[in-house]
Amino acid sequence: MALLNHRSDPRAARATAWVGLLFLVAAHPGLAQEGGEAGVLSEAKARAIAFESTRGNCLACHAIADGAPAGNVGPPLSGLALRFPSRAALYAFLWDPHASRPQAMMPPYGRNGILSARELALLTDWLWTL
Ligand code: HEC
Repeated sequence: MALLNHRSDPRAARATAWVGLLFLVAAHPGLAQEGGEAGVLSEAKARAIAFESTRGNCLACHAIADGAPAGNVGPPLSGLALRFPSRAALYAFLWDPHASRPQAMMPPYGRNGILSARELALLTDWLWTL
């Protein structure tokens, strides 16, 4: 039954495709390098960093793309290329929001070692496209 539903529901089908892709990358770490970090593989990685509760857990506070359920503590994350002067500024904000906004509630992902510099770079590149 569940399988049949998957076939008729495009959202579920897409979710299944993402899980499959993530599994593929996890099972074959070399693939990510072969893909040159470009395109769909880096987008899948960035999504995982943002959405997984053990990593960025950004959905706890933000609406991002089609991620659900999403919180509304912070603003929806879209149009960031219009809201930040450069990718570097966005990266710096994720690294430590308190540096530019002392009252920010958002965790300092880089400064506190929650995400690595590499994870934040992938995340920045993806967020910049939303
Ligand atoms: C605990 C809640 C919380 C979490 C978790 C969180 N944020 Fe935030 N975020 C906020 C709040 C609140 C603001 C608004 C900050 C302010 O006004 O100073 C914000 C602001 C932002 C902004 C700036 C938006 C703008 O237009 O000014 C970005 C970008 C952002 N968050 C990205 C992220 C990303 C990416 C993650 C996950 C890696 C994340 N946030 C996780 C609460 C959170």
